[in-house]
Amino acid sequence: MASIFEPFRIKSVEPLTFTTREQRVQLLKEAKNNVFLIKAEHVLIDLLTDSGTSAMSAQQWAGMMVGDESYAGAKSYFRFQEKVHQITGFKNIIPTHQGRAAEKIIFTLLGGKGKTFVSNTFFDTTRGNIEFSGAEALDFLTEEGKIPHHIADFKGNIDTKALEEYIQKRGAENIPMCVMTITNNSGGGQPVSLQNIRETAAICKKYQILFFIDACRFAENAYFIKQREKGYENKSILEISQEIFSLADGCTMSAKKDALVNIGGFLAMNDDKLALESKNLLIITEGFPTYGGLAGRDLEAIAQGLEEVLDEEYLKYRIGSIQYMGEKLKAAGVPLILPTGGHAVYLDAKNFLPHIPASELPGIALTNALYIEGGIRGVEIGSLMFGKYDENGNHIAPPMELVRLAIPRRVYTQSHLDFVCDTAIKVYQQKENYKGYKITYESPLLRHFTAHMEAL
Ligand code: F0G
Repeated sequence: MASIFEPFRIKSVEPLTFTTREQRVQLLKEAKNNVFLIKAEHVLIDLLTDSGTSAMSAQQWAGMMVGDESYAGAKSYFRFQEKVHQITGFKNIIPTHQGRAAEKIIFTLLGGKGKTFVSNTFFDTTRGNIEFSGAEALDFLTEEGKIPHHIADFKGNIDTKALEEYIQKRGAENIPMCVMTITNNSGGGQPVSLQNIRETAAICKKYQILFFIDACRFAENAYFIKQREKGYENKSILEISQEIFSLADGCTMSAKKDALVNIGGFLAMNDDKLALESKNLLIITEGFPTYGGLAGRDLEAIAQGLEEVLDEEYLKYRIGSIQYMGEKLKAAGVPLILPTGGHAVYLDAKNFLPHIPASELPGIALTNALYIEGGIRGVEIGSLMFGKYDENGNHIAPPMELVRLAIPRRVYTQSHLDFVCDTAIKVYQQKENYKGYKITYESPLLRHFTAHMEAL
C-alpha cells in the first residue's frame, strides 16, 4: 500500500471534537439511533457525504473576496461561464444553487406523464425530479456493474444493447432524454468509459434522443479513463473531459462535488430554444441568468475550483486515498465493493454482519457501530433507505445492504483515513457483538433521513 501524499499544505485548520465511547452510546440513543439526527459537532470524522464538504483553496477564498455582486452581468459570471465553456464546450451555461435545481428545471420542461427517461443509474434527486413531473425513470446499468465483488474497469457503463432494445420497444418519441451519470454514484462511484459514452451518444443521435451528462464527478471519471482506457494514457484530464462533453447535448452539475465548493451547480446545453425556456424557469425559481441562486463570490470559487480539480496531482491523491482505504480494508478481510470507485468506500453490510437479516437493518447496525467505536459517520444505503413492504407488511429488501463512507475533498489526511480503516477492522473483528435494529417511526417519503430506530 503506497502511502497517500496530500498535494497541499494546511494554512487554516478546524479543530475536531472528541467524545468518549460512553458519550457516543448516549448521543446515538438520544438521536433515535439515526446518525442523520446527531449534531455534526459530535462527529469526529464525518463521511456522510462528499457533497458541499470540500476544503477550498487559498485561491478560491481569494476569489470570494473579488466576487462581483452585481445583479446582472457580473464579472464573476463571465469568469464562471468561460471556465465551464472551456471544459464542456456547451453554448448556454446557466448557474443554479445546486445540482437538483438544474434537474428541477430541465425535467419540468421535458418531463410529464407518459414520458420515460433512461440512464446508466439515476441519482435519487434526479429520479425524484423526473417522477415528480409525472414521468418514469429507468436504469440500464450493465450486469457486471450490479455484482459487488466483480472486478472490472468500468462498472458504471450503461448496457447499450438493452438500452437500444428498450428504445425500439418503447418508441423514441416517448423518451426525451438519456442521462449518463459520471461517476455512477448509486453504483459505488464506478466510472463510465469513453467508449461507452461514445456508443450511447451514437444511439441517442440515431433515435434523436437528447443525451445529457450528470457531471457531478466528471474529473474523477476522467482520471479513471486516463488510468484504464487504451488511448488516453497521454491525454490531459482537460482533454478527456472535453471529449466526454463533446459527445453530449448538455449536462447538469452539482458544483458541490468536483468544483470543490460548498454550494453551487449549473445546467448547460447547446440547444438555444431549450436554454431560453430554462432561463425563463430559472428567473422565477433561482434568479437572474447571470447568478441563478448564487452570489458572485460563489461563481468565482466554482471557476477556480474547476481549474484545480483538473490537476492530476490532486486527482492522484483523491482517487489514491479511496484506493488506499480499499486495499487496507480488503487485506483485513472486510467485505466491501471492489474495485473502489471515485469518491467513497462502500462496505458490504450483508457480508460484514451476516448474522443480521435484512429486515433487521444490517447497514444501520454497521453505521451505528462505526459511530459508537470511532465517532465516524457514514450512511446506510440498504433496507432503511430503499426497503419496502409487501401487502402483508413484510419487509422487501433491496439487492444490496451497503454503508457508504464518502470522503470529503482535501479535508482529511492519511492518518484520519487510517483511523477510519482501523475502526472498521475492529468492528469487523468483533462483529458478533452487534445487533440489528427495528424502526419505531418512519415518514412516508425518504424515511431514512428522519426514522427513529431501536436496538434489538
Ligand atoms: N447527481 C448526483 C450523481 C449526485 O451525487 C448528487 C448529489 C446530485 C445529482 C444532486 O446534487 O446535492 O447539489 O443537489 N449527491 C449527494 C451525495 C447529495 O451525498 O451523494 P445536489
